[in-house]
Amino acid sequence: MTEHDGFRIERDEGRGVATITLDVPGKLNRVSLAARRQLAAAFAELGDDQAVRTVVMTGAGGAFTAGGDIASFLTAPVDEMTSLAFNVAAPERCPKPVIARIEGYCLGVGFELSLACDFRICSDDAQLGLPEIGLGMIPGSGGTQRLARLIGLSRAKDVIMRRKRISAEDALAWGLVSEVVPAAELDAAVDRVVDELGALSPVALAMAKRVLNHVYDAPLHVGLDLEGIAYGVLKSTDDFREGVESFVEKRPPKFEGR
Ligand code: COA
Repeated sequence: MTEHDGFRIERDEGRGVATITLDVPGKLNRVSLAARRQLAAAFAELGDDQAVRTVVMTGAGGAFTAGGDIASFLTAPVDEMTSLAFNVAAPERCPKPVIARIEGYCLGVGFELSLACDFRICSDDAQLGLPEIGLGMIPGSGGTQRLARLIGLSRAKDVIMRRKRISAEDALAWGLVSEVVPAAELDAAVDRVVDELGALSPVALAMAKRVLNHVYDAPLHVGLDLEGIAYGVLKSTDDFREGVESFVEKRPPKFEGR
């Protein structure tokens, strides 16, 4: 079994879901540099695993994470520090839908990881932020870029340059998270989305994710072209045939992912 520094992976094969839980008791689930590399490898492995339809990322003990392991930054090699964004982009590269289940603190690299996920579902006590400027640093794992694209430059400057923490309420109003629920209802809310996604075609979901992510900031004509090509590829899948036939036959579809 692979050793992970500060996180574990559990699989529920019946529901096709793998859950990655950040878990560093007493240290608010701080994420080490080794953990970032291991998380990238774990997402790649889960992406290849046909039994996994959805990945959930979360934190133990009432917090997602308070962020990167601050003290280790001073001794990290420069090349490690300039490529942080690659490892943290792993949920985005993963062909499976990835849900961030967020409660409590979701700071620094934790927030950046969640920004690379497809869906963010949070409890009403969640606090999201990128406080790195207070350390004389900037968010270096994709935070400056993804946050501004998701909430706009003005709000991103408040969060990054003034260390404004985003409440769950604001996160919902700004379209940053898809759902906010009381803490006691968080698991049920995540389970609903897992089951919803698990009933859909894995190949169509993977293609939708790829087209949405890859051409988000490309010119419109490039995006439209890629969308058309992806549509053409999906046209020949068994899942598309099943989707159409099940609609016509008035029965629920059974998608096999091919
Ligand atoms: N890296 C390493 N350790 C961390 C950490 C981090 N990012 N965040 C918290 N911890 C540790 C603390 O050092 C403390 O350990 P200790 O008890 O051995 O001293 C423990 O977790 C609890 O943190 P503490 O600060 O006592 O809790 P709090 O409730 O008073 O404050 C925060 C919570 C999140 C506001 C505060 O811990 C904080 O500001 N953390 C850093 C956030 C940050 O800058 N993240 C970006 C990093 S790049």
